[in-house]
Amino acid sequence: MAMTEVVVENVEQNVKEVLARYGNNPARMIEILQDLQDIYGYLPREVLREVSHQTEMPLTRVYHVATFFKAFTLKPRGKYTIQVCTGTACHVKGSYRVLERLEDVLGIKAGDTTDDLMFTLETVNCVGACALGPVVIVNHKYHAYMTPAKVESLIKEYREQ
Ligand code: FES
Repeated sequence: MAMTEVVVENVEQNVKEVLARYGNNPARMIEILQDLQDIYGYLPREVLREVSHQTEMPLTRVYHVATFFKAFTLKPRGKYTIQVCTGTACHVKGSYRVLERLEDVLGIKAGDTTDDLMFTLETVNCVGACALGPVVIVNHKYHAYMTPAKVESLIKEYREQ
């Protein structure tokens, strides 16, 4: 499968605008990075470098903030985020087998994104729908009573959207 090229555009301008929103104050780095992640969907290396350049904060410190908080991601994400609940109730009902099947069908491990940038696969803790488990959430849509056998048609459904 060919790797989709991720184009990161208008870095200088976007960083400038976001920094201006926060008075060019590096102490607001979390909000600054959050806004930049909203623009790009993740925090590309070029963006972090530009933030360091424009704020004069050492790149290692910018990276420290970007890697410290779980809300930030340094890798491009797929169009669809598939979250497999691995909370206790879902685990007991076989969520790990569903996860394994998803990993097989997508050819990636949990935490990764497919090369075509269609799917990011993640695990999450209890999402409060234990009676419906195993639960898989795709871009906020809940899929209840998931089984390994249902995985292929689930992926097909989203591929064809
Ligand atoms: S354990 Fe999965 S929803 Fe609660």
